[in-house]
Amino acid sequence: MATHTLNVALSGTFELGGTTPVNRLGFGAMRITGKGVWGPPPDRREAIAVLRRAIDLNINLIDTANSYGPHVSEQLIAEALYPYPEGLVIATKGGLERPGPDAWEPNGRPENLARELEGSLHRLRVERIDLYQLHRIDPNVPEDDQFGFLQRVQQEGKVRHVGLSEATVEQIDRAHQYFNVVSVQNRYNLVDREWEGVLDYCTAEGIAFIPWYPLLVGRIGESNAALSRIAQRLGATPSQVALAWLLKRSPVVLPIPGTSRVSHLEENVAAAAIELSEEDFTALA
Ligand SMILES: NC(=O)c1ccc[n+]([C@@H]2O[C@H](COP(=O)([O-])OP(=O)(O)OC[C@H]3O[C@@H](n4cnc5c(N)ncnc54)[C@H](OP(=O)(O)O)[C@@H]3O)[C@@H](O)[C@H]2O)c1
Repeated sequence: MATHTLNVALSGTFELGGTTPVNRLGFGAMRITGKGVWGPPPDRREAIAVLRRAIDLNINLIDTANSYGPHVSEQLIAEALYPYPEGLVIATKGGLERPGPDAWEPNGRPENLARELEGSLHRLRVERIDLYQLHRIDPNVPEDDQFGFLQRVQQEGKVRHVGLSEATVEQIDRAHQYFNVVSVQNRYNLVDREWEGVLDYCTAEGIAFIPWYPLLVGRIGESNAALSRIAQRLGATPSQVALAWLLKRSPVVLPIPGTSRVSHLEENVAAAAIELSEEDFTALA
């Protein structure tokens, strides 16, 4: 039965920057931290188990950030998975400072970005970050400083691919003058479609669109009556159908559901085996 098939490869593959293949269904490592994305996770052993199970299930795209913990998520990834398996892409981010639990402040000054990037390289124990995303474009710092920094570190070989987060089409276009934007990570799920235009743009340009909050932080099941009805008919959970919907929405969508539990990870990976009919897809949209 589809909901028990654990094969992430069924989600299909996408080539980041045209060169780096990943299975489309990835893992978001923000939830392996403490409450408010602050400090260590309440169950450290389970967090490590989640990361190792993700690799067992052929997940080869893990999303993290300097600011998750801060530092905790990157440290746990290295502890659980280093030396990394061939083909694993660890995408990290910089540019958001953490004054405390649930508090996030953009800081795109090049000296801060440089400090954060060096920290990520060190914690992840790599010489080059596979995909480095600017967590926020800081409105108080000239774009030239932020995009120029990313261009420079790519030329220096410290990052392979570069992406943006919470970016508009105009910002993506401007960033393109500095580097090839291979991914855009914006908030998007079945019921939160503010960035539909950016997703369409990414689809047309072949840029990976990495939707954050793909499960509406675990509340997607309460959000939409059609979702529960279709899930019940398919013998799936609402979370699984929400992920299957994202996978069908566009071939450039790479969902990265986050979890601190192996059971939820397995449930989410099983969504790769669900193929929604056109009729169900339209009813959900
Ligand atoms: N670029 C950005 O600004 C930005 C912002 C936010 C997040 N992100 C990234 O996007 C990833 C995904 O977002 P997210 O983790 O915030 O939200 P999400 O994936 O929408 O939801 C994660 C939450 O849902 C719960 N959950 C996971 N699987 C479930 C399931 N099958 N059934 C019921 N509940 C489930 C998890 O709780 P349990 O731990 O109990 O499973 C967790 O609290 C993050 O991990 C992070 O890597 C990026």
